[in-house]
Amino acid sequence: MSKRIAVIGAGPSGLAQLRAFQSAAAVGADIPEIVCFEKQSNWGGLWNYTWRTGLDEYGEPVHGSMYRYLWSNGPKEGLEFADYSFEEHFGKQIASYPPRAVLFDYIQGRVEKAGVRDWIKFETAVRWVEKTDAGFDVTVCNLPEDHTYTESFDHVIVCSGHFSTPNVPYFAGFENFKGRILHAHDFRDAMEFKDKDILIVGTSYSAEDIGSQCWKYGAQSITVSHRTAAMGYDWPENWAEVPLLTHVDGNTAHFKDGTSRDVDAVILCTGYKHHFPFMPDDLRLKTANRLATADLYKGVAYVNEPDLFYIGMQDQWFTFNMFDAQAWWIRDAVMGRIEMPDRAAMEADVADRVAREDAGEDDYDAIWYQGDYIKELIDETDYPSFDVEGACQAFKAWKGHKKAGIMTFRDNGYASVITGTMAPKHHTPWKDALDDSLDVYLEN
Ligand SMILES: Cc1cc2nc3c(=O)[nH]c(=O)nc-3n(C[C@H](O)[C@H](O)[C@H](O)COP(=O)(O)OP(=O)(O)OC[C@H]3O[C@@H](n4cnc5c(N)ncnc54)[C@H](O)[C@@H]3O)c2cc1C
Ligand SMILES: NC(=O)c1ccc[n+]([C@@H]2O[C@H](COP(=O)([O-])OP(=O)(O)OC[C@H]3O[C@@H](n4cnc5c(N)ncnc54)[C@H](OP(=O)(O)O)[C@@H]3O)[C@@H](O)[C@H]2O)c1
Repeated sequence: MSKRIAVIGAGPSGLAQLRAFQSAAAVGADIPEIVCFEKQSNWGGLWNYTWRTGLDEYGEPVHGSMYRYLWSNGPKEGLEFADYSFEEHFGKQIASYPPRAVLFDYIQGRVEKAGVRDWIKFETAVRWVEKTDAGFDVTVCNLPEDHTYTESFDHVIVCSGHFSTPNVPYFAGFENFKGRILHAHDFRDAMEFKDKDILIVGTSYSAEDIGSQCWKYGAQSITVSHRTAAMGYDWPENWAEVPLLTHVDGNTAHFKDGTSRDVDAVILCTGYKHHFPFMPDDLRLKTANRLATADLYKGVAYVNEPDLFYIGMQDQWFTFNMFDAQAWWIRDAVMGRIEMPDRAAMEADVADRVAREDAGEDDYDAIWYQGDYIKELIDETDYPSFDVEGACQAFKAWKGHKKAGIMTFRDNGYASVITGTMAPKHHTPWKDALDDSLDVYLEN
């Protein structure tokens, strides 16, 4: 096949795409030439931990938003690859909420086995994508050589993630605050906040998890300020939930209900922006962080230019297995195994997805909505079928476990939807497990 495909990013989404093509080649298919551009020096995307914040050694914005001591916030049974189980990788079943290093190892194991590392040009940042009569011109910079060049492709698949460019609101008085103000994107080590009184703004996963990390590693108090609603878990006694921050005055934070507190640091857990500075207006995805993204047929093909695809742009209950479902579907669309409908049909598909998401009433509807989406895609390809319903049930149980104990939910285990094996109980309760290294985690 003479086609050339550009894949932007070698995180879980980009790696899913490489594995999808490689798996077709492994059974004799004639696959296109794949070139993956990755600006970091290694693969794994957000799971490739960096101590850096701000700009990297080449002056590029640091991609990493993960921090030390991060453990999976959902059960691994909800994200297991259908073609590469945890048992295959580790030689045994492991506990259900692995720390970052363990999941990085797992992500890496599948692509090492597939032998696709040579398809990736590391330390190469995509600068600009342009539509041409023949396809796309992609301009990239080889960062160590400071060399910019352009190559032509038939398709572009954007896998650059959307939890990396922080959404940073302003609150009056910030410029005179006497402590540190940072966004979750730049949070690296909870030990920095030991014995400190911290204020967190936001109520989603970053707020919950960064607050919990700070609590676990010895912060004096955690105050969480909400714009819409409090999280409402049964928090430890040095944890408070307060209405939205109105302003700060010196070290004193003031809230909408007229109350105030003195704090040492403010951590803005206020989410991220879909940000594609390498895309011109007519190719750039503009969407809210939701399950039914704007303008993507089947959640992946850009309706305005269907030779262009995006992976993983949805808000995420499911992650790795959803990226796989998307990558296998894109592979088959690119290889002509799946026919693309006309523009009107693609737009109708997007509208239908938005309406169905909007009709959902709660998180459970959202989980099953995304599970159904995965089923829909994998039914159209040869991605190994798996028990998606079982994964939805694991998420449901997880939500119940969080309600029962926000600092103990990670001590639970679930059955693999790929091998059926029950996860062992981890050797140490999460709140007491201060060493998150791979070796210690695998001691089970
Ligand atoms: C703090 C945090 C914790 C999370 N924890 C979990 C969890 O516990 N479980 C879970 O399932 N999910 C978690 N997630 C969700 C996470 O989004 C996915 O797990 C996954 O990393 C998304 O993969 P991706 O490949 O789409 O994006 P990313 O992992 O963001 O990878 C994108 C890649 O594209 C590269 N790139 C970007 N721009 C360019 C460019 N211009 N040129 C070249 N390369 C570029 C980046 O360097 C990066 O390697 C978490 C997210 C965050 C922010
Ligand atoms: N351990 C882990 O695995 C872990 C840890 C952290 C993050 N993550 C992942 O990271 C991803 C991103 O999560 P996230 O929590 O960073 O982002 P998010 O889910 O998009 O949530 C953003 C939060 O910021 C609030 N917010 C936005 N603008 C605001 C403003 N101007 N003022 C006050 N509040 C504002 C929102 O409040 P409203 O509700 O009012 O809109 C919401 O609570 C998720 O996929 C999550 O799973 C995982």
